[in-house]
Amino acid sequence: MTKPIILTGDRPTGKLHLGHYVGSLKNRVLLQDEDKYNMFVFLADQQALTDHAKESEIIKESIGNVALDYLSVGLDPAKSTIFIQSQIPELAELTMYYMNLVSLARLERNPTVKTEIAQKGFGGSIPTGFLVYPISQAADITAFKANYVPVGNDQKPMIEQTREIARSFNHTYNCDILVEPEGIYPENEAAGRLPGLDGNAKMSNDEDTVRKKVMSMYTDPNHIRVEDPGQIEGNMVFHYLDIFGREEDATTIAEMKEHYQRGGLGDVKTKRYLLEILERELAPIRERRLGYAKDMGEVFRMLEKGSQAAREVAGQTLAEVKEAMGTTH
Ligand code: TRP
Repeated sequence: MTKPIILTGDRPTGKLHLGHYVGSLKNRVLLQDEDKYNMFVFLADQQALTDHAKESEIIKESIGNVALDYLSVGLDPAKSTIFIQSQIPELAELTMYYMNLVSLARLERNPTVKTEIAQKGFGGSIPTGFLVYPISQAADITAFKANYVPVGNDQKPMIEQTREIARSFNHTYNCDILVEPEGIYPENEAAGRLPGLDGNAKMSNDEDTVRKKVMSMYTDPNHIRVEDPGQIEGNMVFHYLDIFGREEDATTIAEMKEHYQRGGLGDVKTKRYLLEILERELAPIRERRLGYAKDMGEVFRMLEKGSQAAREVAGQTLAEVKEAMGTTH
């Protein structure tokens, strides 16, 4: 029995955030360790270049950092294929062919791309590469014949577009080569969006930085004196406790919420507790990261090996695709 294939990637534009961790990485490690899937995880450096073309040094630096983030949370190259997008030229070649199957109007309708275009302030000069990145993402996914793609909710339009491309290819060339993938989205909606904590605490931040970020977290602006009743809705400390608390913390958290709403529980106390909870999760990750960071040569060799293995799989799909289109000569 061949195992179902899972593929997912991240744009290397900095170290990964706590949001990546709870929204995706943690789940990937669980899926990996279930041993029921064939898992591919990759650094989407080409996609990162679509909106960072002139800051390529950020991407170069982030490759090592994100690889360290991966290893430190428990992604294991012995179980998962970890690779770099740009090292698989077959993906660019597939993109080229898929572009003929997607209209410009269809690309312009992609809601995530639309939002990003507005946010990034491209004005009248949207890079072509940016507009077509959903097609290259379809190449990433279909090259590995991925069945499942765990991603954030913002990626739904990319999965939809990938399905359309796979269908259109198979139909146009009268074959059954490409697989229509399914997205796997975060169960915990809150974890999909992690605001607060200065917007972007990194998984690898040291304890002092995490403490500072926690201590300046947004709580309830009307909770002025300790004895005042406080609100937990919109209070980032409780939002984070809901996400990072484990089952064994549930009673304590419920009691704290009640106490806070009743009045008599100060913000500093809730924040200290949150810091404890966060540190329980982050300290071991940080420690493992330091260990891996001692030998970056080894980290890059791991990526190279993963990329070689990934190239073989993508090359096989590309060969089938070219055969179906008749571009093998
Ligand atoms: N677009 C994804 C993001 O911004 C990254 C990505 C690129 C990706 N190619 C992918 C995710 C293929 C899943 C599958 O997070």
